[in-house]
Amino acid sequence: MVTDVVPSLGIVIVAAGSGTRLGHPEPKAFVSLAGRSLLERSLATVLSLAEPATVVVVAPASHRQQARDIAQRIGGAVRDHILVVEGGATRQASVARGIAALPADCDAVLVHDAARALQPVAVFERVLARVRTGQEGVVPVMPIVDTVARRDDEGRVIGHVERAELATVQTPQGFPAAAFRAAHDAATAEHTDDQSLFAAGGRTVVIVDGDAHGFKITTPWDLRRAELLLESERPRLRTGIGIDVHAYDEAAPMWLGGLYWPDEPGLAGHSDGDAISHAVCDALLSAAGLGDIGSRFGVDDPRFADARGAVFLSATVELVRTAGFEIVNVAVQVVARRPRFSPRRHEVEALLTGLLGAPVSVAATTSDGLGFTGRGEGVTAVATALLSA
Ligand code: CTP
Ligand code: MG
Repeated sequence: MVTDVVPSLGIVIVAAGSGTRLGHPEPKAFVSLAGRSLLERSLATVLSLAEPATVVVVAPASHRQQARDIAQRIGGAVRDHILVVEGGATRQASVARGIAALPADCDAVLVHDAARALQPVAVFERVLARVRTGQEGVVPVMPIVDTVARRDDEGRVIGHVERAELATVQTPQGFPAAAFRAAHDAATAEHTDDQSLFAAGGRTVVIVDGDAHGFKITTPWDLRRAELLLESERPRLRTGIGIDVHAYDEAAPMWLGGLYWPDEPGLAGHSDGDAISHAVCDALLSAAGLGDIGSRFGVDDPRFADARGAVFLSATVELVRTAGFEIVNVAVQVVARRPRFSPRRHEVEALLTGLLGAPVSVAATTSDGLGFTGRGEGVTAVATALLSA
């Protein structure tokens, strides 16, 4: 019998702040970053951790329902493991409410700011792995690259601090659960984060590497920077289309999709008439903005007189790659009465996939007796290509 074991990991995402410095009408965790709220992004990262967890989202009273809706949508099959509770007046009070909602038998707790929406999952994994090895608190940090000055209230520099001794602190921060609960219960002062509260109780905190993407989205500048980071990291996609038509030529051998088809009428053309290969070349060239097969591989070029489809395909792949593109996939539709395609469809797909180094799918149909393909006068092939830059 399968039982639903309670995960031993608890994760608290604090999202109850108002975001005064960001200055949006809605609370900061519910502000959109390139179409997805900060909370949604943080939650999705947490759910991509390999270890199962109970997740508590600490939301403002006004946005508990929105937080529940997000949890339902992002949670999928594990949505019942995501709880939503109401936050407190300070971050510390919000964390306290979050840990109170975790199952009593959690052995490790991670606390994460929803506002650090781009922190990669690798940092969560690093923190968690370290928590599991001992009884210390664990915090991801970034080195300070600027010179650090000490200043007075009049705006004068009164000394310098050795920056090698300093680090800035991110989240998620991880703790052994019992010690963390005890530290919270015993806390008498307000702390700006969890490791400082944990350390104030005389407990040890160790560091692991943070990530430049783990910055806290605080001001409108941070939000814009996060948008631009996402934009620059998104692969740029381009689609292309290609069509080729060849008439049957009983005297020629049949080459189609890079394969030889014995006992079939061949296709007429300057080259071997391989309509599939030529349509794929045109789709790839069109996606890359590199013109078409006629302009790239002219009929006057002796290298391509009677050339096999594979020769055109390899030359096209080379052009497309040189222009800075990767092939994502190619799809082909053939319209023809002959050859009968289905027995060798997988063979064609495997051959073309090998030549292109990307998945190629091929489908075939007849045209119900209509038009030149229906009358059995020739073959049409249509191809689409997707490239990423
Ligand atoms: N937070 C919280 N409860 C609070 C205050 C803050 O859950 N009472 C959360 C925020 O939602 C945020 C994280 O703690 O994810 C870090 O806080 P901060 O960046 O300061 O967010 P805000 O307090 O919302 O922003 P501001 O200080 O500009 O108002
Ligand atoms: Mg704040």
